Amino acid sequence: STGSILILPGDGIGPEVMAQVRRIIDWYGAKRGLSFDVSEDLVGGAAYDAHGVPLADETMARAQEADAVLLGAVGGPKYDDLDFSVKPERGLLRLRKEMDLYANLRPAQCFDALADFSSLKRDVVAGLDIMIVRELTSGVYFGEPRGIFTEGNERVGINTQRYTESEIARVARSAFELARKRGGKVCSMEKANVMESGILWREVVQKVHDEEYPDVELSHMYADAGAMQLTRWPKQFDVIVTDNLFGDLLSDVAAMLTGSLGMLPSASLGAPAANGRPKALYEPVHGSAPDIAGQGKANPIACILSFAMALRYSFDEGVEADRLEAAVEKVLADGVRTPDLLGEEGTDPVTTEGMGDAILKALDAS
Ligand code: NAI
Ligand code: MG
Repeated sequence: STGSILILPGDGIGPEVMAQVRRIIDWYGAKRGLSFDVSEDLVGGAAYDAHGVPLADETMARAQEADAVLLGAVGGPKYDDLDFSVKPERGLLRLRKEMDLYANLRPAQCFDALADFSSLKRDVVAGLDIMIVRELTSGVYFGEPRGIFTEGNERVGINTQRYTESEIARVARSAFELARKRGGKVCSMEKANVMESGILWREVVQKVHDEEYPDVELSHMYADAGAMQLTRWPKQFDVIVTDNLFGDLLSDVAAMLTGSLGMLPSASLGAPAANGRPKALYEPVHGSAPDIAGQGKANPIACILSFAMALRYSFDEGVEADRLEAAVEKVLADGVRTPDLLGEEGTDPVTTEGMGDAILKALDAS
């Protein structure tokens, strides 16, 4: 078998977009000889309805065993009043935490046919393909001390930016590994001019590079300058690696370079297992979209591109990932559009399944 995949469709449009991914996985089995060992389970509100918890222990154990976990989306109005401890998003947080997924990969890829959706000029973004790697499990969102304390006669709110050498080194390795499968370049962003953690970040990334990845081209940039460069000429970058806070901001900026939420995939990777494959969770950036759930309006491309990332980064099937991305590019160039991609054009939209049909047809022709 090529490897094991655990599918967690979740709530709202999650199952609708995941149904199209299943068809594509089946296509790879039938036409390209990739025999994935696929199983499916519950997460989020769906798991709460069945088990009273947003992620059952048994599902957690299966996720730990799988080569790749594909997740749809969790949450919805039905679950908004639940106790915090069993809210649907706790299921997702538990997966990220227990799998120790420290590298969050957010590609910003702009298909030519959609370049007019960008908030930037067409020539700045058309054909863009960059990857932001955000450290996800440490930094200022987790560092101690944290809290609101009383100091004299007023209160003070405190968070601590804290990174150990090993935390920096492991996310740097993720970025260098990715660069080797992509354009061979990494730009590391911090604020070494004003932050101690930034000084250490720069030093450790440089050391990991020099000792283990001298073949990758490494540059460093202050994160504020990086934000400017990202909107001025984003095509100068290949892989950007940065901390949790800067990555939160920079990945949202990058998302807006490319347009619709229905197009954005992501991956979260952890440490390599014994077979060399990293712990991995792939999911679209969007949520469960209750406003359009059950109507066949959801764009499945974000979820499909998340599977393309799994092909590339979990299964080392870069050629097949390219094939799937090219099929998506082809249907977009042909003018196939779910409602979210319509803009001013006024063509008739296709349904979620219609988009799946078109992508399968393009795969057949590839
Ligand atoms: P959302 O991403 O679900 O939807 C925002 C807007 O984008 C909506 O108008 C929606 O219709 C549209 N949209 C999203 N994905 C689309 C797609 N594939 N095709 C076409 N249109 C799409 O974010 P929102 O509305 O803030 O949250 C809805 C629920 O999803 C909440 O319960 C929230 O907690 C949850 N959520 C879950 C996430 C996850 O599972 N990772 C991430 C974000 C939100
Ligand atoms: Mg954010």
